[in-house]
Amino acid sequence: MLLRLWTVALVLAAFAGAVVDVKSRVDCYPEPGASQGACESRGCVWTPTGSDAPIGTPFCYYPRESGFKVQEQNIGHIQLTSGFANPYGNNYSPLDLAYSLNGKTILVTIGNSDRYVPPVGLPKGPSMSSETLNFVPGTIPGTDFFSFKVVRQSTGAVLWDTSIGGMQFADKFIQIATYLPTKNLFGFGDHVHKKLKHDLTRYTEWPMFARDIGPDSGSALSTQNLYGVHPFYLMVEGDGKTHGVLILNSNAQEVVTAPGPHLVYRTIGGRLDIAFFPGPTPEEVIQQYLQHIGRPFLPAYWALGYQLCRWGYQNLDEMKTVIQRNQAAGIPLDVPYADIDYMNHYEDFTEGGDWAGFPAYANELHQNGLHLIVIFDPAIEADYGSFQRAIDQGASFIEWDTDAQVPRQIQDQYPMAKNTKVMLGNVWPDRNTGFPDFLDTTDKTNNWWANEFSTFHQILPFDGMWIDMNEPSNFDTGTYSSVGSNLDASKLSCPISGPDATLDNPPYPTQAVFLHDGEHLSSKTLCMLGKTARRTMNFYDTKNLYGWSEARATYLALPKTTGRRGAIISRSTFISSGRYGGHWLGDNTARWEDLQTSVIGAMEFNFFGIPYVGSDICGFNGVSNEELCLRWHQMGAFHSFSRDHNTQGAPAQDPAVWPSVANAARIALNFRYYYLPYLYSLHYSASRYGHTVVRPLFFEFPHDSETLAISEQFMWGSGLMIAPALYQGMTSVHAYFPSATWYSLQPNNYGKVISAGFNDVPSPHDSLTPVFVRGGNILPRQANNQTTTDSRKNPLELLVALQPNGGASTGELYYDAGDDLLPNDNIENHARHHWTFTFTYSVGGGVLTGQCEKCANTVSVPTLDTIEVIGYPQAPNFDDFRLDGAKVLLNKSQSSWSGNRLIFTASRLINLQQRTQSSGTPKFTLSWTNM
Ligand code: NOJ
Repeated sequence: MLLRLWTVALVLAAFAGAVVDVKSRVDCYPEPGASQGACESRGCVWTPTGSDAPIGTPFCYYPRESGFKVQEQNIGHIQLTSGFANPYGNNYSPLDLAYSLNGKTILVTIGNSDRYVPPVGLPKGPSMSSETLNFVPGTIPGTDFFSFKVVRQSTGAVLWDTSIGGMQFADKFIQIATYLPTKNLFGFGDHVHKKLKHDLTRYTEWPMFARDIGPDSGSALSTQNLYGVHPFYLMVEGDGKTHGVLILNSNAQEVVTAPGPHLVYRTIGGRLDIAFFPGPTPEEVIQQYLQHIGRPFLPAYWALGYQLCRWGYQNLDEMKTVIQRNQAAGIPLDVPYADIDYMNHYEDFTEGGDWAGFPAYANELHQNGLHLIVIFDPAIEADYGSFQRAIDQGASFIEWDTDAQVPRQIQDQYPMAKNTKVMLGNVWPDRNTGFPDFLDTTDKTNNWWANEFSTFHQILPFDGMWIDMNEPSNFDTGTYSSVGSNLDASKLSCPISGPDATLDNPPYPTQAVFLHDGEHLSSKTLCMLGKTARRTMNFYDTKNLYGWSEARATYLALPKTTGRRGAIISRSTFISSGRYGGHWLGDNTARWEDLQTSVIGAMEFNFFGIPYVGSDICGFNGVSNEELCLRWHQMGAFHSFSRDHNTQGAPAQDPAVWPSVANAARIALNFRYYYLPYLYSLHYSASRYGHTVVRPLFFEFPHDSETLAISEQFMWGSGLMIAPALYQGMTSVHAYFPSATWYSLQPNNYGKVISAGFNDVPSPHDSLTPVFVRGGNILPRQANNQTTTDSRKNPLELLVALQPNGGASTGELYYDAGDDLLPNDNIENHARHHWTFTFTYSVGGGVLTGQCEKCANTVSVPTLDTIEVIGYPQAPNFDDFRLDGAKVLLNKSQSSWSGNRLIFTASRLINLQQRTQSSGTPKFTLSWTNM
């Protein structure tokens, strides 16, 4: 009987199209409620599957013969005509497809000229690569339906192949599907991923729509769309070559990762601007991507110091007590934070009564070499000075489309908003708030925003901005059915039926809505019909850009406000947000799983061009505990953004709460501070060349397939590997060491060479987390103090990790004033010292050379006093060290060689600064002989 039914199903399917392998289906009924009848009425195929099919296999799927046909084809431009009905509206017909090269990046635009394009100014520049990709138009085999391939010229690898079918392009439903060359897929965000590499053995739908919701790391799989939107991925091909793909679009969207291997991308507006980056190394993919979208901002040096925050300080005294007890415990600390507690009734640019001494405290922090970051939310209460000034200065807010939509019972309560169409919602302040329109096409909104910062800065001298709630988040958004029925006297309601609801209730609202029963696109945010960009655009198209545009406005405001470089962190991010600020991974929970996923999150945000990233150390929600908080500090000390943060009402979790945590944090942060010149140099090269800072192992070893599965270790640049302890009760870490020379930097095993492969390395509570330097690297460092202001006064040092096979070791140092502005944002013109170092060893002795790539003599840089060579196999003659041929007198009591560790020091050994005074390229050669 079953067999008969199956046969009937197959025969029926044959009418609609051939049965598609269970691994290669493009879902034709992605919303809830699929049935055979509904499926077939879409012209799609219905074939139920057994339990042996991949998880999530859709029963209803597009026949391969679907999509568009070619109407006219020219080089670079193809005009398509619809060949298959779109279930959610009429397909564009004709539909334009254009392809071109931007350097070595292939750009494919699908969509006619009337379509919305996010105003983020891409592409920034053409890419360079040793490899070439080709766009190859064609047809789905055996049909006359259009498809295209993107092929790597050198190997013939097919990176995209849309002959899987299912292409659609209506006003509010766009879909493209492609086969992928391998299952080695990384990226897409903002989601919590339990592994760095996607699981393509199954079908998984990942919505992308900025949302105020914390990561749920506790479940085995959470596909929940988080705060930002990054439709960008990397794929490692069979031979280790890597490419990247960006799909630029700012509407509510989603991607299905699937076992073909294939992926299906859907969006409900705009057009598809797809960019293919050839690599061929993973690091080059990111460089090409950032060449396309813009490279990350350079944080102030102090912003790489440790930061301490919490929500729920009762008053300023409590904040002072916490800061003081951590300083007393010897914890290096650069940046105390204040959350919304400091404000008057949660109104931006105000301070509350219990915080009267805050400005004086800010000054005191500055005198002690610390810096202050405070929070700002975008929503502005509609009844106080900041709002009035916005109106007076002609700033723009997100508005209702028509006067008739404005709920008078709310609006009329606010004389300042009464005669406007400003869409009022609710966030932290007591009363209703307006949402500044940072996409304003005039400068007025950004200027007002900057003025508010500068005015407030005259009261409270903060140094950086923490911008939160900018998805934008709105509390308790409701719905209504027809104009006039939105009568709630306080909360924002959005239409879900009738002529006003075309944007709030589109035919396919995406998985972001289906994930939560009874929800709409406007849930937790504003109505999609809202007008933005001074009424030239719809919130429906621009919602995902809100955090991006606020970060840009704040980035523009910072120099006008403080006159110095600082740091901004933003909760919501979009493609290219890294140009303006960093990111914290949001409201995690004090759980081991959250510690584990934050390692992955930081690597992914480096893919997205936002290297200034980290998690809330010890966990934000819930009650943290000693062991978790200890391990989180040991790991978090290795994220660029290193901040302990806690929710309101939860017990204190700053390191000083537990002596063991204080001890571990002190050790981890002392190490971090010691190596900050290296971390800062990595950030400088990220800003200048588009590099990652924290990166996965496979970025350095893409040909070692084992590295693709490593989610719990990471690198600082190419020189340091960190293998943190991430599980309760661990005493050692089972860590993977790709083929290279790894020297342990843990005190008990200092200098020990770890063999390639998996090794158990000790991870004590009272020592340094497993950290290894890779032979062939030179890392700059500087003795640590409790603030970077102090540590920057110490002499510089170099750690040389010898390449045992006789090859050279290399490294670089970027050093600058630490908090000076970059003129016109141009990092090339920025006054700095940039030294490159090379070390070679021979039986006869060692030679270290330094050469200045650019050294401005206006930048004061400490002297280089100490050199350590790890892996140095012979005793040197300490009486025969020469700098540019002239003998140098070492401080012998601090110079030694034992085992494989050589360290030597002299006061003002190499005066880097002085070398810039003479003409010609500054350089030096330091050499010595062996005994
Ligand atoms: C939500 C943020 O994600 C969190 O970090 C902050 O503490 C609260 N808002 C209160 O401002």
